[in-house]
Amino acid sequence: MVLGFETSCDETGVGIVRGTELLADAVATSVDEHARFGGVVPEVASRAHLEAMVPTVHRALETAGLKLTDIDAVAVTAGPGLVGALLVGVAAAKGYALALDKPLYGVNHLAAHVAVDQLEHGPLPEPCMALLVSGGHSSLLLVPDVTNDIRPLGSTVDDAAGEAFDKVARVLGLGFPGGPLIDRAATDGDATAITFPRGLTGPKDPPFDFSFSGLKTAVARWVEARERAGEPVPVADVAASFQEAVVDVLTRKAIRACKENGVDHLLIGGGVAANSRLRALAQQRAEQAGIRVRVPRPKLCTDNGAMVAALGAELVARGARPSPLDLPADSSMLITEVLV
Ligand code: KG4
Ligand code: ZN
Repeated sequence: MVLGFETSCDETGVGIVRGTELLADAVATSVDEHARFGGVVPEVASRAHLEAMVPTVHRALETAGLKLTDIDAVAVTAGPGLVGALLVGVAAAKGYALALDKPLYGVNHLAAHVAVDQLEHGPLPEPCMALLVSGGHSSLLLVPDVTNDIRPLGSTVDDAAGEAFDKVARVLGLGFPGGPLIDRAATDGDATAITFPRGLTGPKDPPFDFSFSGLKTAVARWVEARERAGEPVPVADVAASFQEAVVDVLTRKAIRACKENGVDHLLIGGGVAANSRLRALAQQRAEQAGIRVRVPRPKLCTDNGAMVAALGAELVARGARPSPLDLPADSSMLITEVLV
């Protein structure tokens, strides 16, 4: 029975997992407190974690019908993420582990995004390819073993995919977080109306890195030109065309990574994995290439404690050595380090 803590960004997540069975997934979010700033404010997030932590633990235990003394191990996101936010989860996890006299596992947030799929689709095929796309990260990872062998193939060189959605939503006056709003606006739009640039897709570009900052600027310039000419901005068409540019690049690179590495399972995770067009296009292109796509349900794609508990449970099952009680929060933890 593993209790998992996640506080790397603006979600306070506490999950409980037994083996690959999900027993509780309690999440408190401070997203509304950041909305007027158009992005997550680290200090606000840290303070919100502090307030939400204990009530969220209680909520998770209640959902699972368990007492704290039923817990066998504690897992926590040690990094990467906002350092002040991480510290709250790491301190809480240490406190519970010490008080309960149970082992503590400090784990990598990105690896947890991969491991969570076990709760939905059963044991991960090894190796598998993982495309992780959220407000904070965009990475392509080759995963021979989610507990100790994750190889980064590429990542974003500027904005994360979700960040691009959030910034473009702002340009279009849609609100925050922008991803779901663009997704919705795009359903009434024409994805071929405007051809926006596909970053890093030239023959000499790194094949598995991403860049979304040029795309974001191109959208802003296009909208400004319209406004300057006194013409109305076709929000649905811009949203659909922008979204198409993002998911075209994401899926193209992910499928190519699978093919070049002889991997026939593609897992997509992170908040942007909730995007309806990304899911559809990934499915379509994967089918053509004979690759199977696994996408956890949206609640497991966004940041949560269940994913940390899922990775913790897998580490326990494989007999991994627990972390020291003085483990640090590491804001720039590398994906090659799954367990502290
Ligand atoms: O994983 P997550 O909850 O938090 C981190 O950033 O780690 O991801 C949030 C991001 C935001 O940028 C949000 O705009 C994006 O995921 N997002 C979406 C959709 N739902 C959430 N992006 C595109 N389409 C969506 N449907
Ligand atoms: Zn995340």
